[in-house]
Amino acid sequence: MAEIAGIHKQQMKRKRSNEVVKEKWAKHYSSNHQILLVGEGDFSFSVSLAMAFGSASNIVASSIDTYDYLIKNYKNAKANLDILRKFGAQLLHVVNAVKMKNHTDLRKQKSDRIVYNFPHSGDRGKESDEDIIVNHQNLVQSFLWNARALLRPKGEIHVTHKTTHPYSCWNIEEVASECGLTLVECVKFKIEDYPGYNNKRGDRRNPDLSFPLGKCSTFKFMVSSNAKKSPPEFPYQKRLKKTLAEMNPIAEYLIDAGGLTYLTECLIPDLSDLQDDSETSSSDVGTSQPPHI
Ligand SMILES: C[S@@+](CC[C@H](N)C(=O)[O-])C[C@H]1O[C@@H](n2cnc3c(N)ncnc32)[C@H](O)[C@@H]1O
Repeated sequence: MAEIAGIHKQQMKRKRSNEVVKEKWAKHYSSNHQILLVGEGDFSFSVSLAMAFGSASNIVASSIDTYDYLIKNYKNAKANLDILRKFGAQLLHVVNAVKMKNHTDLRKQKSDRIVYNFPHSGDRGKESDEDIIVNHQNLVQSFLWNARALLRPKGEIHVTHKTTHPYSCWNIEEVASECGLTLVECVKFKIEDYPGYNNKRGDRRNPDLSFPLGKCSTFKFMVSSNAKKSPPEFPYQKRLKKTLAEMNPIAEYLIDAGGLTYLTECLIPDLSDLQDDSETSSSDVGTSQPPHI
């Protein structure tokens, strides 16, 4: 009996002294989780969770796009954002998954679940091309590295992704492991678990179009017990080294002689943000965007 009372207590969240709110679940997500959604399209996934919970007070829903872009390009974006606001969600725009760990609003509030459904850079081109795959791996790896910094202890990062070729070539599990993350579960994704969710292409040409899901799964990651704090080597760095080694015997010699770090440091642009107090002359104005944007 005491055990049942304990479980009951766990499942109830006392919001105000006279109001007990029952915990509600939508597949993997609980109304008690602090949830961050990244890379939203028309925000229908966030709405689906909010409807299931009857609240969005623990939801932070974000997009890389501006509010104006969203309402212009997704027919349901305005209605979805209005619903989320009414349910108490925090809405953030221009959140770049690959550098969000320093986002002012995100870094002060850690999450139990960080979710990115169907990450895709929007790159045009053949999905099976090596360059396109490497760009996507960079997106996923940079997202995971940033998300790890925003997790609460025992928190999980969820990536829903297609599991057939060529998407399987992204090797999500390996990319995550390089970020010090361990796969805890991989569950087949069924869209009917999330009523109202419309998966969107989110590219520049036809953002509001849906795409066939085919076989896909939700990959759930947690921080490994022995996770390093130093950043992983990124897929484009590996690729560059491989190409150089193949093309240039001197580069190969340098790699063998331990000059690898020097070599890549010389050739890879610094993509970190400029400091506020740094002075920028017209000749050194560059992009602060990662290469896949
Ligand atoms: C295939 S769409 C999926 C959209 C949405 N998650 C869904 O399931 O409907 C990929 C999304 O990733 C977003 N995206 C691409 N690069 C991003 C980045 N660096 N940070 C955040 N979002 C990004 C795009 O804007 C697009 O909305």
